[in-house]
Amino acid sequence: MLLAPSILAADFANLAASVGQITSVADRLHVDAMDGHFVPNLSFGPPVIAALRPHTDAYFDTHLMISNPADMLDAFLKAGADGITFHIELGDPRPMIDRIRAAGVDVGLSLNPDTPIDAVMPYLDAIDTLLVMSVHPGFGGQAFIPEVLDKVRAARAEIDARGLATMIEVDGGVTVETAVPCGAAGADILVAGSAVFHASDPVAAVHAIRDAGAAARATGVHSGG
Ligand code: DX5
Ligand code: ZN
Repeated sequence: MLLAPSILAADFANLAASVGQITSVADRLHVDAMDGHFVPNLSFGPPVIAALRPHTDAYFDTHLMISNPADMLDAFLKAGADGITFHIELGDPRPMIDRIRAAGVDVGLSLNPDTPIDAVMPYLDAIDTLLVMSVHPGFGGQAFIPEVLDKVRAARAEIDARGLATMIEVDGGVTVETAVPCGAAGADILVAGSAVFHASDPVAAVHAIRDAGAAARATGVHSGG
């Protein structure tokens, strides 16, 4: 089980220091770019990611909640992304998958809570990570939507049945409590923003959320037994 703190909940006025609190214990950094069009909020873009890049060797798991990822891809790659995730709701993902792959970084495909899992099934063998949104994207600090766990279970079953290495990542409202059903459903990566950066002890929070998810993953019934 990997834990990816979302820097959306970090202190933007002291970003390097805020992120620096947890980089030694986090598996990845989740980097949420929002454009005010695909989602009703703005966060940050390539200049902020590029500014953070020299401060850490962490894997930048870059989640593009933007309407024009094809136009912006090169800028995000240049800023230092290690993985690029974009949304299936934008249409045929093949051209972006091919471009991200050709750039030598990991490919992620995400789906919103209201998007059926069938939309991404044809691409599971072409991506590294399936990012299942467990809140409607745009804001941190929202409540976990438990209905999305059905999609995590369906993706887990399909990935296992096909013998794929594709990882399942769950994003939104993940806490030490909601990490448990995520792990049991077969998630491989948990994203947590508020539950890490707003905790009194962010390092302890990383451990607690990851441990809770991993324990549930180990004993879960995600693969049918
Ligand atoms: C939501 C973002 C999430 C968000 C998670 O649009 O994609 O990554 O930062 O934040 P929390 O953990 O606070 O729900
Ligand atoms: Zn995200």
